[in-house]
Amino acid sequence: MIKVSSTRRLDRTDVLIVFAEEPSSKDVKPLHKWDALSGDSSRRLAAALEKENFRGKVGQTFVWHAGDSRAERVIVAGAGKAASRDVDMTIRAAGAAAKKAKEIGATKVACALPPAGKLGEERNAQAVTEGLILGAYEFDKYRQAKETKAFEAAEVLGAPERAVKLAEIFARATVYARDLVNTPAGDCAPRHLAEAAKRLAGSNVKVTVWGQKEIEKKGMGGLIGIGKGSDEPYHFIMLKWEGKKGSKKVAIVGKGITFDSGGLCIKPADGMGTMKCDMSGAAAVLATFSALPDLKPDCTVYGYIPAAENMTGGSAVKTGDVLRTASGRTIEVNNTDAEGRVVLADAMTVAREDHPDEMIDLATLTGACVVALGDQVAGMFTNDDNLAAGLDAASKRAGERLWRMPIVAEYRELLKSEIADIKNSGGRGGGAIQGALFLQEWAGDQPWAHLDIAGPAWTDKGLSFCQPGGTGFGVRTLLEYVTAQGK
Ligand code: BES
Ligand code: MN
Ligand code: ZN
Repeated sequence: MIKVSSTRRLDRTDVLIVFAEEPSSKDVKPLHKWDALSGDSSRRLAAALEKENFRGKVGQTFVWHAGDSRAERVIVAGAGKAASRDVDMTIRAAGAAAKKAKEIGATKVACALPPAGKLGEERNAQAVTEGLILGAYEFDKYRQAKETKAFEAAEVLGAPERAVKLAEIFARATVYARDLVNTPAGDCAPRHLAEAAKRLAGSNVKVTVWGQKEIEKKGMGGLIGIGKGSDEPYHFIMLKWEGKKGSKKVAIVGKGITFDSGGLCIKPADGMGTMKCDMSGAAAVLATFSALPDLKPDCTVYGYIPAAENMTGGSAVKTGDVLRTASGRTIEVNNTDAEGRVVLADAMTVAREDHPDEMIDLATLTGACVVALGDQVAGMFTNDDNLAAGLDAASKRAGERLWRMPIVAEYRELLKSEIADIKNSGGRGGGAIQGALFLQEWAGDQPWAHLDIAGPAWTDKGLSFCQPGGTGFGVRTLLEYVTAQGK
């Protein structure tokens, strides 16, 4: 991860990043004066942009060989329209600039801030810094030959220290999640998630890991049923951040299927290719805990991760098998590929024993949610309007996109089983809603929200602020959410 610092004065640099806003109407030319450049350079750059027909759209970049006394090269990054620019757009804009800087082999990078506008000084600087770090991120642990030698540090001109510090905490947590998701399933089995969790213990974070014995004792037949088809032992991971006495208690639950082959209802090769990402919910929970000691929220945060590999071994769950969960309720597994909800059911039961005030689960749960919302928006299902409002606001502050979806009670029919209390799959229509309806059975009347992150947890082609692979989606929303509680 690159190191970002704040500076007041621009020393001579290789690459200077500046932003250009999109004009609000077609005939207004983008008129800019960049304080970081000399008046003469600034005028010549404006002319060059005009010739290039540079519109200032978010994601657009332009490399200019400045020959300025302060910068060898300038990257102009589109910042979008001033009136509509939010955290999300700012991260995308800065991410694109950082990606470009990497691409052109920048050795030393400085970045001037776009006008703060409605974001305010701090948010603006924080979002730019997050975008720079996330855009520069690379997962090269498995490469011998490093393709691009990324710059290792960047200076942001005139950024408030606090903004840079917060950005570093948020970005580091996001990168933590990306690294876990990008690590191949062969090196990221349930026991590796358990080890990662244990490394987070300390400074007010308690970590407990259950193995087969404890899980059997607890009667978590859902987790056992899904996990037993693999040679990799399943685990159940619990974390706790102790907040102020008497403060709100928030439980976060993350789906930790370290590889989803589909089980005996095996996935076609095409659909299986990226299934190391099926622990993205777990990664978001662990990443959140990695940042809590820095952010020190007032509220108490509990984390729960059912970790298992969904495989086809000789003892794998068979279609038609009935599993008895820790709650006592039974599940007919009519599709072994709908495994996430089965392990989450047990996790939610154990979570409720700690009496949280609210429970939020994150899961790469359904392909149907990807069909509905695409790969940049998570589906939010919740039985509580307050929680919906809180998460919606947190996601906007974080620059991540959530969209509330309906929980249609009538569709519960689809999950009726002939022999058990519920079956785990009910056909194609409304697949994401079915997943939520299933989980709701284990949430009961507890305020609960389910975030289906199957789309945004992963990017095939890459985004302006993310290389292809895991995105770390959800981490920044969770951090925004928990730090806003008890205030
Ligand atoms: N892990 C998948 C969902 C998924 C799909 C995540 C695409 C990321 C990208 C999940 O376990 C699954 O297989 N869901 C099934 C459910 C169905 C069998 C009811 C699906 O979506 O097809
Ligand atoms: Mn599956
Ligand atoms: Zn899955």
